[in-house]
Amino acid sequence: MALNTDKIRADFPILNSGKPPVYFDNACMTLRPQQVIDKICEYYVEYPGCAGRSLHSMARMVTENYNGARENVQHFFNAGDSSEIIFTRNTTEAINVVSRGMNFKKDDVVLTTDREHNSNLVPWLVRSERDGIKHKVVESNVDNTFDMARFEDMMTRDVKLVSMVHTSNLDGYTIPAEKIIKIAHDYGALVMLDGAQSAPHKKIDIKKLDVDFFACSGHKMLGPSGIGMLYGKKELLSDLNPHNVGGDTVIDTTYSGYKLSGLPERFEAGLQDYAGAIGFSAAVDYVRGIGIDNISRHELNLNKLMTLGIKDISGLDIIGPGDASLRGGILSFSVEGISPHDIVMLLDQSSSIMMRSGAHCVHSWFNAHKLPNGSARASVYIYNTKDEVKVFIEALGKVVDFFRKN
Ligand SMILES: Cc1ncc(COP(=O)(O)O)c(C=O)c1O
Repeated sequence: MALNTDKIRADFPILNSGKPPVYFDNACMTLRPQQVIDKICEYYVEYPGCAGRSLHSMARMVTENYNGARENVQHFFNAGDSSEIIFTRNTTEAINVVSRGMNFKKDDVVLTTDREHNSNLVPWLVRSERDGIKHKVVESNVDNTFDMARFEDMMTRDVKLVSMVHTSNLDGYTIPAEKIIKIAHDYGALVMLDGAQSAPHKKIDIKKLDVDFFACSGHKMLGPSGIGMLYGKKELLSDLNPHNVGGDTVIDTTYSGYKLSGLPERFEAGLQDYAGAIGFSAAVDYVRGIGIDNISRHELNLNKLMTLGIKDISGLDIIGPGDASLRGGILSFSVEGISPHDIVMLLDQSSSIMMRSGAHCVHSWFNAHKLPNGSARASVYIYNTKDEVKVFIEALGKVVDFFRKN
């Protein structure tokens, strides 16, 4: 079903201001609908207490709403049990819960792709330095698609974890996760998906994927900023060492010992971002109401239009597969001889088009490809329209002409 963007846009206060932006920086952070803002306010206005500790009625309300948010997120991703959902600040923290918590032996191997966000690269580099694990990179095909043959060649019994970006923020490409997970499991390896860019845009069925860990951020899918989650299979979470410990992570202490709480409490130390979790749940409701398949289709249609519209700009090179249908809602490009920072700054000044420029926290890929300036990236979401795409295509043509002449 085609999205009713007029109706959707009416829910987003920033899009109903005097001069609304053409907001194309959704891979970084999406905008928030009034429904999410209202839910955050509801917490601060109606029950601004803490969950799980006090027995008074306000605390019970927080507990009810916080637990309800966890269950809602669990059902959205079709996870087996709400105790397998740990609220975190973001994807980065979720990945760190696993990277710091896993018991590796020296020379155990962790496999990633060659286009990981720093959040799924640095944690493994740190563990290599500290504990002698081996971090190995599966290089992509020339067109930046996943090289399954190379992956299969690199899979051995030494690989303990395959930790990969599900949908890349670099170019929007999605790896064939189901097949990767099956192969990894055949070798006895666990799999973690960095779902920061997949969760907001495509159906994630955790049970069907049979993934062991899945990390994502609420603020990339209409939720409040600074909230995310880690899904982990119960038995695997129970095996992780909590790295952030203190209040709520234990059920009892003496001066010489402690008893850890069960799941998920042992991973949620101290008072939590209750408004964030409750707002995340409201965001999940909003996404569910629009329909995730409708969202994927809408983004793809806009990306096809953008890709077609810019193909004749001289010196423009798209990062990743040329075929827009392999890049979801992301169009990342460089233009020969023009800095991506200059392009996005002029697009903002001339036409209020808001995009991202630089390495997008995937420095390793840009360094390996000798593109020190990075790229300009347009990323769309549910409220973006064909008219905005037209504005973008026209403005980009003018900006490139301007730099060519000056
Ligand atoms: C693929 C990917 N992984 C991880 C992250 C980190 O997300 P966060 O900053 O919410 O932790 C991002 C953010 O852009 C991302 O795109």
